[in-house]
Amino acid sequence: MERLDKRLAATGRWSRKEARELIRSGRVRLDGTVCRAPETKAAEDAPVAVDGVPIGADRPVYLMLHKPAGVVSSTDEPGERTVLDLLGEEYRNIGLFPAGRLDKDTEGLLLLTNDGPLAHCLLAPKSHVDKVYYVEVDGVLDETDVEAVRRGVVLGDGYECLPGALELLSEHSAHITLHEGKYHQVKRMLAARGKPVTYLKRIRFGPLELDESLPKGGWRALNDGELKGIFSQ
Ligand code: URA
Repeated sequence: MERLDKRLAATGRWSRKEARELIRSGRVRLDGTVCRAPETKAAEDAPVAVDGVPIGADRPVYLMLHKPAGVVSSTDEPGERTVLDLLGEEYRNIGLFPAGRLDKDTEGLLLLTNDGPLAHCLLAPKSHVDKVYYVEVDGVLDETDVEAVRRGVVLGDGYECLPGALELLSEHSAHITLHEGKYHQVKRMLAARGKPVTYLKRIRFGPLELDESLPKGGWRALNDGELKGIFSQ
């Protein structure tokens, strides 16, 4: 027997705090009945569903999505178009969620899966999964920015970013590689350099490269090589 909030958090999709909030808001059913008490003990094989969707999906699914701007990375946000809205009907109710988030105005590679443990592993801070972004800025990028990113930019709030890499493509554009994923990280790093981001697109996430043949809003299942890549991270 395990606490219901712990069982939800173990999927990797919600923190313990988020799980408690979900439960208290009446969105979670245990054995088919709404349960609002996070401390309820649930048997390992007792069915748990969030918004009617069983957790612990019956089959793992791994999709690469080319996220367009204007779509939020969460699975359920009233009044917003979510990444799930871009998928085919058959993928809407199998517990898919994005492994990591991109801002609403950020484009590019997003992995969608219902494999909580894998997502948890890819997103764990100690995994340091590389993320590469194509970025355009207002202002002129130069070698001082390259050096600052190499050493670790200090953000406005004093947070010291891990060392990354900035590869200049032009005065206003670059590839930036990060080994962590803090909130608005690229935007905050470049804002700290006085060069606000005007366009951001993720082109790599760990071993996965954005398939540029996918149109914005397009998606496909990962191929065998890509699956091998994410499981050997
Ligand atoms: N960094 C950002 O600032 N935004 C994103 O969407 C991803 C990384």
